Amino acid sequence: MSSLLLRNIGRLQGVTDASCLRGDPMHSSQYIDNAWLRIADGRIADFGTGQPTLPADSDFDCHGAMVMPAWCDSHSHIVWAGSRWQEFVDKIHGLSYEEIARRGGGILNSADRLAATSEDDLFSQSMERVRQVMSMGTGALEIKSGYGLSVESELKMLRVIARIADTVPIQVRATFLGAHAVGREYAGRQDEYVNMVIEKMLPAVAAEGLARYVDVFCDAGFFTPGETARILEAAARYGMQPKIHGCELDASGGVKVAVSHDALSVDHLERASDADIRMLAAGDTVATMLPGASFFLGMPYGPARRAVDSGAIVALASDFNPGSSPSGDMRFVYAMGCIKMRLDPAEAFNAATLNGAYAMGLGDDLGSIARGKRANLIVGNRPVTDADPLATMAYMYTEPYISRIFFDGCIYSN
Ligand code: NIG
Ligand code: FE
Repeated sequence: MSSLLLRNIGRLQGVTDASCLRGDPMHSSQYIDNAWLRIADGRIADFGTGQPTLPADSDFDCHGAMVMPAWCDSHSHIVWAGSRWQEFVDKIHGLSYEEIARRGGGILNSADRLAATSEDDLFSQSMERVRQVMSMGTGALEIKSGYGLSVESELKMLRVIARIADTVPIQVRATFLGAHAVGREYAGRQDEYVNMVIEKMLPAVAAEGLARYVDVFCDAGFFTPGETARILEAAARYGMQPKIHGCELDASGGVKVAVSHDALSVDHLERASDADIRMLAAGDTVATMLPGASFFLGMPYGPARRAVDSGAIVALASDFNPGSSPSGDMRFVYAMGCIKMRLDPAEAFNAATLNGAYAMGLGDDLGSIARGKRANLIVGNRPVTDADPLATMAYMYTEPYISRIFFDGCIYSN
């Protein structure tokens, strides 16, 4: 059993548990000053203030810096092929996301590129981005399919996700998003496409055990709540729990269908109504907000403030994808939670760590400083001098802040 002692921690941030997911405890920032933390076999064995109780095989001096749990990014589309820079330029010239999609760009553009890319190439293109987000402190990551849109290509994407999960030192959760858009061969035949998702894709994905969760883009111009319900009910028979896209483009009815199908999370929510927020506050479905998409597309930001005040469980995630959120930087997501959504730093921090872990079924294993959890940690790059280093991490939002990253108690180097 190997052990490591982190010494001289200025502030050990994120000493939380499930009682901090919502309501008042979410914004009382939980930390210990002048702390130490002992890691044994990759997990947090113990922590405290003052002198450590036991020695360890090796020591790491944190030089008075903040130590925090790694970010938990519960919504990404990080597996894709090629680039959509041309659409970015089209957007600069005034085209909207919906207009680009109607012209056959958007998700279908990514599906064309993915179909023309080998599984090995898709893996190496995607791994580059995964390494990038790990070096930015992401210690758990959900990844969706949804740029396949045919049985063969959806399986290709999900196999790449499984290969990433086997390769990296962080936890990866796979979500099947066959109903992201209607595949080109089914243009004008949405009904038949939904039947194909249910009758062909789902059984094939389940047979290989490639996805724990199921997602549907339930929104204006994509899939209706009725179609979403059919897909979620079929997926439930394979034990796949929903994590769905809703209310990005319209008050889509996505929240109701998600909550009534016991979804783990409903994500986006930029156009969610007060009734939607009340529904989320009354249950345990996580309300996941994706400020990166609002920033990039110039949309309204999700109602994170209202949702927290109403008592919903709110998570923040990157939505890293080539069309609406081409960044997986969770520190920037955290900062936007504060700057644009008016979450206080402790709320945004919990939303991007512990609540994100819960939104991918990893709440018992990651997202906070607790005995027995995986030691996926970020060590800050300067001694803590101000009273609220969390505020500074959002306020000085491009200032480098990381000196070391640990995954399972080992230093990560890219
Ligand atoms: O979460 N909204 C649906 N899907 C992605 C965008 C996908 C794309 O444009 O490639 C999102 O924003
Ligand atoms: Fe998304």
